[in-house]
Amino acid sequence: MKIGCPKEIKPQEFRVGMTPNAAQEAVARGHEVIIETGAGLGSGFDNADYVAAGAQIVDTAAEVFATADMIVKVKEPQAGERKMLREGQLLFTYLHLAPDPDQTHDLLSSGCTAIAYETVTDASGGLPLLAPMSEVAGRLAPQVGSWTLQKANGGRGVLMGGVPGVGPAKVVVIGGGVVGTHAAKIAAGMGADVTVLDRSLPRLRYLDDVFGGQFKNQYSTAGATAELIQTADMVIGAVLIPGAAAPKLITRAQLSTMKPGAVLVDVAIDQGGCFETSKATTHADPIYEVDGVMHYCVANMPGAVARTSTIALGNATMPFMLALADKGWKQACQDDPHLMAGLNVHAGQLTYYAVGKALGIDVVSPNVVIKA
Ligand SMILES: NC(=O)c1ccc[n+]([C@@H]2O[C@H](COP(=O)([O-])OP(=O)(O)OC[C@H]3O[C@@H](n4cnc5c(N)ncnc54)[C@H](O)[C@@H]3O)[C@@H](O)[C@H]2O)c1
Repeated sequence: MKIGCPKEIKPQEFRVGMTPNAAQEAVARGHEVIIETGAGLGSGFDNADYVAAGAQIVDTAAEVFATADMIVKVKEPQAGERKMLREGQLLFTYLHLAPDPDQTHDLLSSGCTAIAYETVTDASGGLPLLAPMSEVAGRLAPQVGSWTLQKANGGRGVLMGGVPGVGPAKVVVIGGGVVGTHAAKIAAGMGADVTVLDRSLPRLRYLDDVFGGQFKNQYSTAGATAELIQTADMVIGAVLIPGAAAPKLITRAQLSTMKPGAVLVDVAIDQGGCFETSKATTHADPIYEVDGVMHYCVANMPGAVARTSTIALGNATMPFMLALADKGWKQACQDDPHLMAGLNVHAGQLTYYAVGKALGIDVVSPNVVIKA
C-alpha cells in the first residue's frame, strides 16, 4: 500500500501522523511511505530521518493526497485537505465529526473511507487512541500548574514539594480517570499533598489499591469539593462524562472561598470545562485571573510537548496503521471489531451512530458496508 503523511496545517499543531520508526516498520513490510517535506519538523524529525527509514519525501500535500492509498494524519482534515480526498481513499486520523457538520458532509461527498482515532476501542472498554493524549495532558497539568503557582505568574508563590520545615502544596484532582491518575502521580512525585476525587467506587478502589501510599482519594460530592478547595493551592479538573459537556463543579461564587493566588488547571476545557469561570486559552496566552484565582485552560495541552505527544500517539496508532496497510481496511476491520468501531464514513455513507444522531444524518451499520 502507498501510505501518505502530509504536514499538519491546523494552527498551533506541531504533531505529525507518522514517526520515522512507524515509517520504517511499514517499509519493512513492503509498503511505500510518502511524507510531505518538513512534516515532522515540529516534532523534531527532519526529512533525513524519514529518508533513512526508507520513506520518500515529496514537496506538497497535493502530491501526498494524489499518490497515497491511505492518508495518516493527526488532526481532522481541513477544508483544503478535504478537497483532495478521493473515492476509495482511506483516511486514518482524529475526526471528531459530531460537532462538525461541514467536515462530515465533505467526507461523505469525497467517497473516501474514514476511520477515526477517537472511536477505536479496546477490550477493556477504553479508547486506546485517545488515552495517550490524556496521559500527556494529565502529566503536564501539575507541571503547568506549578509554573502558574509561582509569584511572578500570579500564583500564591508556593513550591510543590515544600522544603524541610515548610509543608508541600495541596493539590486536589477532580476526576480520577486517565488524566486525573497521571496528574496525581506527577503532583505526588513533585512532593505535593494530593487528593483525588471521583464518583466511581470501582475507580476509587483501584486508585486506593495501586496508589494508596502516594496520594489520597475521596468520593466526589459538592460538599467534599467545597471543603477541599478552601485549603487547596492547586485544583486540577479532569472529569469526563462520555458524550456530555463537562459538569461545572466549582462555581464563580466559590472562588472567594479559595486562597488568593490558588491555581485552577481545567484539563476538561475541551469538553466545555468543569469550572464555571473556565474559558479556553492558547499556549501563546495560557493563563488569566478571576477573583484572585489563576486559571490555566489550554484546550490542546499535548501540543506543548509535540515530540512526546507525536511519539506516544504513533506508538498507539502504529499497530492499527500496519493492519490497515497489510490487509486493506475491510479485512482489517473484519478481523478486529475494535478497529471497526473506528469506521465513521465509507463511500458516501455515515457508519457511526452517535455522529448520525448528533447531525441528523441516516446511518448504515459498519457490518453492512463491510459485506457490500
Ligand atoms: N485539554 C487537553 O488538552 C486535554 C487532553 C486530553 C484529554 N482532555 C480531557 O480531559 C478530560 C478527562 O479525560 P480522561 O481521559 O481522563 O477521561 P476518563 O474517562 O478516563 O476519566 C474521567 C473520570 O471522571 C470521573 N467523573 C465523572 N464525573 C465526576 C464528578 N462529578 N466528580 C469526580 N469525578 C467524576 C469518571 O468517573 C472518570 O473516572 C476529558 O474531558 C478529556 O477530553 C483534555
